[in-house]
Amino acid sequence: FFEVVSYTPPDAIFELTKTYNADPVARKVNLGQGTYKDENGNPWILPAVRSAKEKIKDSNHEYLPILGLPSFRTLAADLVFGKHSAAIREGRVASCQALSGTGALHIAGTMLKQVLGRDTTVYITKPSWSNHRQVFESIGFAVQEINYSSSAGVDMQSLIQTLNEAAPKSIFVFHASAHNPSGWDCSPAQWKQIGAIVKERQLFPLFDAAYLGLTSGDYDRDAFAIRYFADELGLEIAVCLSFAKSMGLYGERVGMCAFSSNTPTITAAVESSLARMIRAEISNPPAFGARIVAAVLEDEELYAQWRKDLVTMSSRIAEMRWQLYQGLAELRTPGDWKRITEQKGMFCILGLTPDQVHYLQKEYHIYMAESSRVSIAGLNGSNVRYVAECINQTVKR
Ligand code: LMR
Repeated sequence: FFEVVSYTPPDAIFELTKTYNADPVARKVNLGQGTYKDENGNPWILPAVRSAKEKIKDSNHEYLPILGLPSFRTLAADLVFGKHSAAIREGRVASCQALSGTGALHIAGTMLKQVLGRDTTVYITKPSWSNHRQVFESIGFAVQEINYSSSAGVDMQSLIQTLNEAAPKSIFVFHASAHNPSGWDCSPAQWKQIGAIVKERQLFPLFDAAYLGLTSGDYDRDAFAIRYFADELGLEIAVCLSFAKSMGLYGERVGMCAFSSNTPTITAAVESSLARMIRAEISNPPAFGARIVAAVLEDEELYAQWRKDLVTMSSRIAEMRWQLYQGLAELRTPGDWKRITEQKGMFCILGLTPDQVHYLQKEYHIYMAESSRVSIAGLNGSNVRYVAECINQTVKR
């Protein structure tokens, strides 16, 4: 039977992590997969999460409800949409727990396929997260790319042109904050411009929200686009939320898929449909991560600690951006590096050729995606100078 199956090459970013882990050289630097590391290059268990785990340690192991842990869903929806937003106050947010951001994208896509029809096109940004195309194509959507950014910033002209040309009901996958991989985010004024066209042309906005809070250190600020579209513009939207990065819960696979809709009655119907999908796919979601998130969000002290943890992570990333830039500038490395400090979030595309990327890996044991996207969170006080020097050597070669 299985002769018909052809070999699929391994996922590039996970393969890079595997190669890095197998490299015995002590000087190696991992700028590949986007996971936050502390000043010593180690995974960071957020203090808020550490305390929350202590609080939930006696939880039982029974099934959660099909839609997920109720307190988690309520608190996470309040967090993203804003507790006092019209959508929350009026009971117009349908939600379900999801297997982190990717699981949320899959559920959202499956739901939208039923709602918007088979011929709907999904627009993703170019560049975009390496998994976006595959998630939506696996659901059966045609996926098209929008020119999103250049080394100078967001390409508003192309974005607006695509928004104006797309068929009504097309789905636009926006990165709520910390665009992966470009590092360029839209300003509030640009979001307003985009929102006006989305509304006028009856397009459907889907927000991939993997970096809220971690981008600027301020959750409310990072949730601007979501809240503006849902509240100010009164649009129906999808939010695919992940707590992998914002709480450092990578392996727990905890996230949420949420839709704002026009009435509480529609919301109840949407939620019932989500429940049917979840039951058919995974029966009910895993409890551990959701309990941790709920414990952080429901406790005033832990919540305050988490806000501090977000600042710790985002300011360390900003500092590393600055130090990498300074290193390259001091060495007079050919290239335009100022943008490293102007961008936001974990990632930056350095603009190196694949050949230079391979050279950095082979010669200096510095690992990054072939596109030369680097995860800034892999830099620290002990390796940032080394990385700048190696990039300098490579570029001048
Ligand atoms: C990344 O972009 O490196 C992360 O979001 C990890 C992943 O799953 O690709």
